[in-house]
Amino acid sequence: MSLVPQVLRSLKNLPPFPMVAQRALLLLNKPEVSIQELVEVVKFDPAVTANILRISNSAYFGLRREIHSLHQALLLLGTQELLKIIIASGATRLFSAPTPGYFTERQGLWRHSVSCALMVDLLSREISLPDQATGFTAGLMHDIGKVVLSLFVEQKFHEIMEVVEKEGVPFQAAEKIILGVDHAEMGGEMARMWDFPDRLRLAITYHHLDKPEAYTDDLTLLVYLGDILTMMFGQDLGADGLAYTGYPEVLRHFHLREKNLQKILLQFGSAWDEAQVFFGLMGNQDGVQCANRG
Ligand SMILES: [Fe+2]
Ligand SMILES: [Fe+2]
Repeated sequence: MSLVPQVLRSLKNLPPFPMVAQRALLLLNKPEVSIQELVEVVKFDPAVTANILRISNSAYFGLRREIHSLHQALLLLGTQELLKIIIASGATRLFSAPTPGYFTERQGLWRHSVSCALMVDLLSREISLPDQATGFTAGLMHDIGKVVLSLFVEQKFHEIMEVVEKEGVPFQAAEKIILGVDHAEMGGEMARMWDFPDRLRLAITYHHLDKPEAYTDDLTLLVYLGDILTMMFGQDLGADGLAYTGYPEVLRHFHLREKNLQKILLQFGSAWDEAQVFFGLMGNQDGVQCANRG
C-alpha cells in the first residue's frame, strides 16, 4: 500500500525555512550583492552573526588576522563566502532531527550534507564555475527530503533494500516503489513550499539524475557528482550508501579526468578537516520538531 497520503500529511507540519537563510537564498539570484544587503539580512539574528565570526576565524578560511565584526568579515571574505556561512548556519536547525531511516549517527545527514556542499564547491573551482554560493547551497540542501522521509524509510527499510538487491535499482527508485515517493521528490516539494529559487529546487528534485529534466542545468549535474564523490570517498555513507547508478558521462560533460578527481580527493581531505567548524554548528541549535514525527 502506498504511503503517499501519510507522507504528504506529514508535510503539513513542515517547519518554516529559517528567515535569515531564506533572505540569503533570495540574494543568490542577484548578480551583485552589496555589503549593506548582507548586513540587513543578518543583523537581527545574533546567533547567525556569532556563527559568522566563529567560522570566519576558523581554519576553514585560514585568515591571518582575527575578525571582530560583521563588517570586517564581509570585507575580508566577500559576498559568496558570506552567503555560504549565512545559509549553512541558518539551515542547521532543520537538520537537527535524527534521520534513523538513513543514518545511525544523529548528525549523519548534516555531516553528509556539509561534505557534499564542500565537494560541489571543490568541483566548481576545478571547472572554474563562478557563483559558488549557489553550488554550495544546492549541495547542502540536496537530501533535505530525508528529514521528512526518514521515519517512513525506517519502517520499510528491509522492503526497500530487498527491491534494491532483487531488482538492481538505485535506492531512491526503490523508495519510490515501496513508499510511492522518493526523498529527492520530497525535497523538491519542501523546496517548493519554502519558495526556494527554481534552480535550487530543481537541483534538489533531480539530484539522482533519474529524469531527463536533470540534464538541463549544470547545477543539478554538479550536485549529483558531488553526492556520488562524497559517498565514494566514504564520508558518512548513510544506509543508502552506494546503491546508486554511476554516470561517467557527467564526468565527461565537465571534462573531468582521473587526475582532476585525484586532486579533488586530496583537497577534500583538508577541506573536511578545516570544515569541522561547520559540523560544530549543530551543537548551537535548540532544534525543531521533525515534521514527520509531529
Ligand atoms: Fe539523495
Ligand atoms: Fe546525498
